[in-house]
Amino acid sequence: MSLSQTLGDLHPVTILILVGACVGCILAVSWASKPAKALVTWNKDTTPAQVADRKIQQIRALTNCHEVAAKLAEMFHTDGAGSWPPRANHEYSTWPAPLRPYRDIYLELAPLIPQPEASLDDETNRARVDSFRAQYRKLLQERVNLIQVTKLLEAANAGRWDVFPRDTYNAFYCCIASSRHAYRWATVPVVKVAQMEQIVDVPIELDEPWTHLQKHFGCESQSGNIMSNMLLNFDAHGQHMFKANMGMTPEMVAAEESFARIFHHAESRALPLYQDMLMAIITFAREDKEACAQHMANITASLRPILGTYYNELHDSKIPMKLWLSRVQGFFAWSAGYFDKEADKMVIYDGLTGNQVLLFIALDAFIDLESYLSPLEQEKTIPAAQRRLVVALKKHSFRRKISEEPKDEAEARIQREFGEIVKRLRAFRSAHRVRSKQYLSTPAPERLPMMAGKSLLGPTMSESLQYLDNFMVGRLQQTI
Ligand code: HEM
Repeated sequence: MSLSQTLGDLHPVTILILVGACVGCILAVSWASKPAKALVTWNKDTTPAQVADRKIQQIRALTNCHEVAAKLAEMFHTDGAGSWPPRANHEYSTWPAPLRPYRDIYLELAPLIPQPEASLDDETNRARVDSFRAQYRKLLQERVNLIQVTKLLEAANAGRWDVFPRDTYNAFYCCIASSRHAYRWATVPVVKVAQMEQIVDVPIELDEPWTHLQKHFGCESQSGNIMSNMLLNFDAHGQHMFKANMGMTPEMVAAEESFARIFHHAESRALPLYQDMLMAIITFAREDKEACAQHMANITASLRPILGTYYNELHDSKIPMKLWLSRVQGFFAWSAGYFDKEADKMVIYDGLTGNQVLLFIALDAFIDLESYLSPLEQEKTIPAAQRRLVVALKKHSFRRKISEEPKDEAEARIQREFGEIVKRLRAFRSAHRVRSKQYLSTPAPERLPMMAGKSLLGPTMSESLQYLDNFMVGRLQQTI
């Protein structure tokens, strides 16, 4: 039966009702779709990147009002390439041409770094290290035009970010830092013969750019740090870039990546916390204690998922203990330096360690703890803009301004929140102590006991564990 036949059989009033109903439906759908569209737009506006952008704008707007805001804004600008966590443009085709050989060489030689089984024979290992370094040196000499590279770096250091955008600069920082670690260790698991070297003759193509980069970021260490090798080692889509275990089992590749991700995740979630620290400081200074208490509550709430990343990721089923020491940790150490003639002694640089994670350094300053790292250690490893932020946070910490006997309910809430932050940091430090010992106790017969962040240790790991534990226990006791 056709539609016209059907309609013809119906009473005109029924037809009118049907048409009315259809028009109503269309209007209702179009009305309903408006909020739906609005919702879609609203969702689009609140992607994590957009939320971060908004927070950064809000913080920037306070630059002239408060020193902490100014230091945060400076850090986003200098270290973060306009964002936080720091942005890195690993879209290699957009890099200035003279820089590209560095990435090519890393990717070409990276499969030679890891060994399925570490050899225990020093001669074999010496030959492997020498051969890898000779290949690296040769490719650098053949392909890198150091004059052009230096010109680019000089342009950037003179503020010409149009020729060398900051996010590319950051990716290049990561590239050179990773290349230096590849050259330093040459083989993964790292081996005794490389560990015994106190001075490493790093090729000029890796040394000269490094000097520029370190001058820009304001830390002199020969090694990279958590920012250069961990935070910047992810592209805009969250992909992990420079690896030490390329071509090894999926379990090994995943262990390395998961470890790096802990640092990236922690800092990715830290931005709201930095903003709340700032706002707590400002509102307290304005004597708006109600608002301050709310910002303090936000800080403790943000801490849960941030520390959760550590608790959920750093355990045997995600990062196997049997792999961490030999597959992951060694590559991030440095344990080498130069002979200082004036002081008549060796200066040894340590490598990467969790003690360089801004989140913890900032929290310690906010709750007015003395810094964990000595000023000299900070100057060597922590980027200058991050150090300046921490100094400002410590200077404006208001924790000690709250009397033992709070004057009102809002002050009591602020005090409770400070207590809660301390409690969570203590819980982290206790858990960290237990887990660190477990990870460090795994046998690694191919190497001498070494911490990435503390270089070569005593003759046995069991003796060294006590030494390392002292740092962790000491910090736990100070966290009050
Ligand atoms: C199995 C992996 C890890 C081991 C074995 C380990 C071990 C250690 C050791 C021995 C120290 C004291 C010596 C030093 O300062 O370098 C330390 C300090 C520290 N680590 Fe780790 N760590 C690991 C992973 C992490 C991760 C993933 C984080 C954070 C995301 C972290 C955060 C810290 C912090 C903040 C300190 C400074 C002391 C403190 O604030 O309590 N560590 N770590």
